[in-house]
Amino acid sequence: MSEAIIIGSDHAGFAAKEELKSYLLSKGMEVTDAGCYSEESVHYPVYAKKVASAVSEGKFKRGILICGTGIGMSMVANKFKGVRAALCHNAFTATASREHNDANILCLGARVLDWPQIQEIVDLWLSTEFAGGRHAERIAMFEA
Ligand code: RB5
Repeated sequence: MSEAIIIGSDHAGFAAKEELKSYLLSKGMEVTDAGCYSEESVHYPVYAKKVASAVSEGKFKRGILICGTGIGMSMVANKFKGVRAALCHNAFTATASREHNDANILCLGARVLDWPQIQEIVDLWLSTEFAGGRHAERIAMFEA
């Protein structure tokens, strides 16, 4: 992996984001950390906006967002044009979100998943290609 990626979290996802950052760096990825930077309580929309706007503007091809459930992050991120944020809970949803939905932001719940689960999801999400074909036709319908 040598791709650049932007990551972000709120306080609930902070510890997982730090672990994720180390992991992605160890894989040779270029990582931009949009915050937050401690476990002090913050508002997840602030960090979802930072990551989603960067992906929407084409500054990054992909991003990862972590909050307690991943729900708030995905709700906010999907308001940005061109963003296809997927809340994934396991290997199947991680793979499907890439193959079928060409997801460009992965949302994770740090209060739902442990680190080995996050690692598995991230590995699959980063390495799975979009299948195209009928799925591209469907994405074109909602991006229009
Ligand atoms: C923070 O307590 C929690 O609401 C947030 O991390 C997230 O789960 C929201 O969707």
